[in-house]
Amino acid sequence: MSQVNISDAVRYIGCDDHEIDLFESQYQVPNGVSYNSYLMVDEKIAIMDTVDARATTEWLANLEREMELVSRQRGRECPPDYLVVSHLEPDHAANIQKICEKYPKLKVVSNAKTFAMLPQFFTMDFSGRKVEVKEGDSLSLGSHTLHFYMAPMVHWPEVMVTYESTEKILFSADGFGKFGALDTQEDWDHEARRYYINIVGKYGAPVQALLKKASGLDIQIICPLHGPVLKENLAHYLEKYELWSSYRPENEGVTIAYASIHGNTAAAAKELAALLEEKGQKVSLHDLARDDMAKAVEDAFRYDRLVLAAATYDGGLFPCMEDFLYHLKLKNYQKRTVGILENGSWAPMAGKLMKEYVEGFKDCVLAEPTVTVKSTLNAAGRDQLCQLAQALAK
Ligand code: FEO
Repeated sequence: MSQVNISDAVRYIGCDDHEIDLFESQYQVPNGVSYNSYLMVDEKIAIMDTVDARATTEWLANLEREMELVSRQRGRECPPDYLVVSHLEPDHAANIQKICEKYPKLKVVSNAKTFAMLPQFFTMDFSGRKVEVKEGDSLSLGSHTLHFYMAPMVHWPEVMVTYESTEKILFSADGFGKFGALDTQEDWDHEARRYYINIVGKYGAPVQALLKKASGLDIQIICPLHGPVLKENLAHYLEKYELWSSYRPENEGVTIAYASIHGNTAAAAKELAALLEEKGQKVSLHDLARDDMAKAVEDAFRYDRLVLAAATYDGGLFPCMEDFLYHLKLKNYQKRTVGILENGSWAPMAGKLMKEYVEGFKDCVLAEPTVTVKSTLNAAGRDQLCQLAQALAK
């Protein structure tokens, strides 16, 4: 277990996972991921969320070690009193039934939506254990008090966050989470952005609503369900969330995402990248057939301009470009300038199909001209490429 110091009363009992191949069966996590869980020790003892089933054994050991410590200090058996469930997604909630079976008097604290969905995941009867809370309700543990705020669709409809008012801690559920295990030293912004855009990105308006609620709280510590506990410079993280959830670009630059079959579309995309760099533009180039799709999606949102470069395939789009555009659509892509580069050896269709996607994105502007390559870039195509580079350059 990574050593995480929060306070005497608030203890980290979560787990790192370096073995997972794909988080949510889709996201590469080269540095793993953490499933965070916390224990609040007061007159009453509360567990703040469980962990993924992949980490059950380690989590139970972490919990038991802390509980034995408390029992020794108090000279009597002290089972936990409450399990607070912020989010029912299995990467956090997999062990609800297991922990309830282990501690027969444990009460489950959550909201009506959680309790309505619980039977979809578990077979046990939770009646008699439920402490149902709603917006603004509070629960005293002794010298600590938990206040509950609903955060629907920050990531699922039942999500709620908990604010502990004595130590001024926000337990933020998926919010302010990050890919990467806790024993990994890496830049927060990068992996938090890739996590946010890809996992919570669709839900900008609900995130803004939560930020509005959070602005009324004096928060000193943020305890998310993934990634590091945030104790310093909280304004930085709040500003990033405000920016990302507004869909405004974070940086000036051009993301070029290409889908190339035999390398000719890739060559044209790279030539465009070189032209833009000659003009002093920041360029982020992604091979959609090989590179991390989540990183390409992240950069499409990060930068203010995007170029889609794709080959025509079976009269449609080369599939990895279709996949990329579907991801952008799912994540509510908007407010960007988009250029198009198509390739087709006998009946180019990619440009028309990519434009249809872009026209469906809110407040996106198409940069002209569309570059059409027929098999390989020739003088006419190169001329269009120069014009597009000129149009995209700032
Ligand atoms: Fe980390 Fe939405 O679960």
